[in-house]
Amino acid sequence: MSLQNFFNSLDELVSEARATLSSVDSGDSLEALRVKFVGAKNGALKSVQKLLGAVDVPDKPAAGKRFNEVRDAIQALLDEATARIGGGAVAKSESLPDATLPGLRPRLGQLHPITQTIEHLKEIMGRLGFTATEGPEIEDTWHNFVALNIPEDHPARDPLDNFYLATAKAANSSPLDRDAMLLRSQTSTVQIRVMESQPLPLRIISLGRVYRPDAPDATHFPMFHQMEGLWVDRNVTMAQLKSVLRLFATSYLGGDVNVRFRPSFFPFTEPSVEVDYWWNGQWIEFGGAGMVDPNVFQHLNIDSEKWSGFAFGLGVERLCMRRYGITDIRDLYRSDVRFLRQFAQ
Ligand code: PHE
Repeated sequence: MSLQNFFNSLDELVSEARATLSSVDSGDSLEALRVKFVGAKNGALKSVQKLLGAVDVPDKPAAGKRFNEVRDAIQALLDEATARIGGGAVAKSESLPDATLPGLRPRLGQLHPITQTIEHLKEIMGRLGFTATEGPEIEDTWHNFVALNIPEDHPARDPLDNFYLATAKAANSSPLDRDAMLLRSQTSTVQIRVMESQPLPLRIISLGRVYRPDAPDATHFPMFHQMEGLWVDRNVTMAQLKSVLRLFATSYLGGDVNVRFRPSFFPFTEPSVEVDYWWNGQWIEFGGAGMVDPNVFQHLNIDSEKWSGFAFGLGVERLCMRRYGITDIRDLYRSDVRFLRQFAQ
């Protein structure tokens, strides 16, 4: 086959493509033309390509070069037509789901990892005989401080360390006033509420949110959760406190966990300890604990000669983070579903 004849076939093909593709007006006819010109099996371009084999050997390079140009030109015409029709017609018909395929499972919501942790902690402490109770997140200074033996001049009451509310009552008063209201800074408030309202002996836990104006970083967040525990009975001892916290830790974190008590101070417990668990090669503080201070009992008209008790408060986020290897508390509150979906039950 002469080079000229080959060129003629190509020219015919291009002009036909130009004529038909420039006037095409529907996605379906465009698709038909696409098959006609560049279809992988019987497309016109394929047939012309076969003629290449019949071109004389010295002419082959020129023929091949021209063939490539024509192929690109036809593709450009196809692209133009697709864009003109809006791409939409084609894309739409392609994206119509095949009605015979099995359906997509709708994505269900799930409990937040902290909610899951809270349920888990309640279940473990329930087995140890602790009943779950709740208290309000908006508190008065009596429950958050006074009854807990935190005196007026104590730094824990500083307005900079608490979210005091601008309530109508408190508008003209100082945060130190007895009727000032605040977002509770600790769940120890619930200790007071249950001792005010329930008969002794009692053994409760309370899980909920607490608020402190801390700048967020990997280990701090202005809102977090605590698990408060309180056991009041005759002859409750520090040894029982340690046993309960150890049993709890091995149930939640596994048998290899180490627990350590360090002497500390809280106004509402005496003696007081910090509770540390071993994590990632170091001791991490998970909360505080101690024996209920007689001054607290006195505020509630409980005879501290007859009754004794222990209390503890642990950070729920820390427990959850320790269990799942989460290293940044902020991940829990970013509401990024890619993170949260990892905790599907
Ligand atoms: N309320 C204390 C805190 O938030 C923890 C604590 C609870 C300490 C009960 C002793 C007893 O740090």
